[in-house]
Amino acid sequence: MYEVQIMGTGSFVPEQIIKNDCLSNFVDTNDEWISSRTGIKERRISSGENTSDLAIGAAKEAIEDANITADEIDLIVVATTTPDFFMPSTACLVQKGIEAYNATCFDISAACTGFIYALNVGFQFVRSGQSKTALIIGADTNSKIIDWSDRNTCVLFGDGAGAVVLRRSDEKGIIHIDTGSDGRGDELLFCPGVNVKNPFVEELDEKKQFMHMNGKEVFRFSTTVVPQTIEKLLKKSSYSIDDIKYFLLHQANARIMEAVAKKMNIDTKKFYKNIHNYGNTSAGTIPIALNEMDKGGLLKKKDLLVLAGFGGGLTWGSALVQWNK
Ligand code: UT7
Repeated sequence: MYEVQIMGTGSFVPEQIIKNDCLSNFVDTNDEWISSRTGIKERRISSGENTSDLAIGAAKEAIEDANITADEIDLIVVATTTPDFFMPSTACLVQKGIEAYNATCFDISAACTGFIYALNVGFQFVRSGQSKTALIIGADTNSKIIDWSDRNTCVLFGDGAGAVVLRRSDEKGIIHIDTGSDGRGDELLFCPGVNVKNPFVEELDEKKQFMHMNGKEVFRFSTTVVPQTIEKLLKKSSYSIDDIKYFLLHQANARIMEAVAKKMNIDTKKFYKNIHNYGNTSAGTIPIALNEMDKGGLLKKKDLLVLAGFGGGLTWGSALVQWNK
């Protein structure tokens, strides 16, 4: 088995900034409610860019940061629940956009946990020797599946993408990844697909392709499952909570991060937050924040990080990473 390092990070978000106050044009809400209940101040919303455009932007930055050429990439995995098309995959569109024609490309659907799942796939491919250089992306254009008349969801989400380049290495990098799913929670957070409609089936009512969420239950689920996955992750490695420099959680709600910190008795300062600027970009939150931490000089060689995601499915997962970039 090989060691697997994160060699480069990148992110890309639409230019258009939508502040909380602007949302009161669509729904009965205000900045005070959104800021105090979620920590969100503004989010980026597409002016026409689709998920592949965001993913390509993030990929280009990660490739440059890793100091590699696109033809060295032999695997592209995109985590998204808002692909441009049912087919081809967003990963194939990225391949064309960055001209990485030596890669095998596919998408992964695990909602807001998508980046952790995709990272795990890349980790296993590189670790086993099947892949040498993998491009792993989390990208979502949530604005196209949001019901802009539903204040329970439309204030929470934004659009954006983040990417990492993984490479075979002699030094430690990704140490361990823990993932889990519970399909019994399918109705807590979902977005309908296309109805079965053919000459042999009676037509059903057209389902609106909007995201639906039971916020309270998802809040309860996330504050339960995140401590569990992190504890499991650390138990499988030889590290303890005190060894970890930063916890980078999926940015869904600042109050979720505070509740997890309190439950696990960890200083909230160790939890990196950028939700105020981007809202919840689903599969994009973790790699966007990782890129920000990297560019901001927060990460030093040998630092230990825990990344943790949770979301629709239900799904969850966490990764223990030693920063050796
Ligand atoms: O990435 C996917 C994972 N998603 C999440 O992790 C989201 C998890 N859930 C949450 O973050 C929180 O549950 C929410 C932010 C969605 C909601 O916060 P809450 O503190 O659970 O609020 P609530 O749903 O209990 O609503 C409280 C009140 C309600 O009014 P009444 O019934 O008390 O009169 C809501 O109708 O706030 C009202 N409300 C709003 N008011 C102004 C709900 N949304 C809004 C809004 N603006 N946007």
